Amino acid sequence: MIIYKSLIEKYKKYLTVSNKTPIISLNEGNTPLIFAKNLSEKLGFNGEVYLKFEGMNPTGSFKDRGMTMAVSKAIENGSKAIICASTGNTSASASAYAAKAQIRCIVLIPKGKIAVGKLSQAVMHGAEVLEIDGNFDDALYIVRELSNKYPLTLVNSINPYRIEGQKTAAYEICENLGQAPDYQFMPVGNAGNITAYWKGYKDYNKMESSKYYLPKMMGFQASGAAPIVEGHIIKKPETIATAIRIGNPTSWKTAEEVRDDSKGVIDKVTDEEILKAYKIVAATEGIFCEPASAVSIAGFIKYIKQDYFKNSNSIKVVCILTGHGLKDPDIAIAKATSIIKVKSNINEITKTIGF
Ligand code: F0G
Repeated sequence: MIIYKSLIEKYKKYLTVSNKTPIISLNEGNTPLIFAKNLSEKLGFNGEVYLKFEGMNPTGSFKDRGMTMAVSKAIENGSKAIICASTGNTSASASAYAAKAQIRCIVLIPKGKIAVGKLSQAVMHGAEVLEIDGNFDDALYIVRELSNKYPLTLVNSINPYRIEGQKTAAYEICENLGQAPDYQFMPVGNAGNITAYWKGYKDYNKMESSKYYLPKMMGFQASGAAPIVEGHIIKKPETIATAIRIGNPTSWKTAEEVRDDSKGVIDKVTDEEILKAYKIVAATEGIFCEPASAVSIAGFIKYIKQDYFKNSNSIKVVCILTGHGLKDPDIAIAKATSIIKVKSNINEITKTIGF
């Protein structure tokens, strides 16, 4: 019998763990890198496009990679409770790993903007969910203060173990492609994930072989929540991509460093572009991601339109799809073409479907 090892076991030699670290795992990682031929054709792109579908993680987002590390290390260090602020996915992941570790999980969420799938996860896993009368940035400030004062382990991406765990996605991409991609497109919210990927690519390049060279990191914010692009804090961030509705990212500076070191970009896409990309990837590749994840595709489309890739023939592009579409079914239903209502009658249905 072959059983997939936990992410920590698989990449032990690259992580700050020892044989004493209790591994809290839900079999995260090892997500598919999907060749997106239909999408390339639809967009008129001649290179190779791959989608790293992080929605296939156990709680449906990339957060699980970081959370297995953060919670395992919290247990190793004797912690009895974890705390986080979240736009939804971090809370879903933290609460699941806390349940597995049988410790308390306290989550602060912004008022009214959490996708229903994410909230249902947190409550089912038994987290103590507090909805604050403020946004993500306010919630993050509060949990940072509380974790400094009380025995609560902060599991937002300020926690270095989160970044460590998340960098493993870059290793998997290198292993799957046999090299690093030329370009990586991804959403940017609190900017932990772009920091983690860049670290992952750099590690792998250094430790494995120089053929795993470094990609250009192409990070995208939503235009109503684009502090890094605008160059100032956004007091009231707004976007349909609620996962990245963040006005003052923790890893702002590192994201700028990643952009500059990799000769990439941090740019923005509109909600309209996000929704278009969200539908295109679902309809051409059969992959349902959440709106924040479609930001990767929206950014890629924007750069194809700008003729950014001069000679795309031999280019390898990876777009990170950070979370599963089932997290946020309300947006899908609201934005899909309307459902046709018919009588339960064969003749009428035959006529309606055009036979
Ligand atoms: N995509 C999804 C689906 C996310 O949930 C997030 C962040 C991001 C992208 C952005 O990643 O913050 O590392 O730049 N979600 C956090 C949360 C903020 O609370 O779940 P980032």
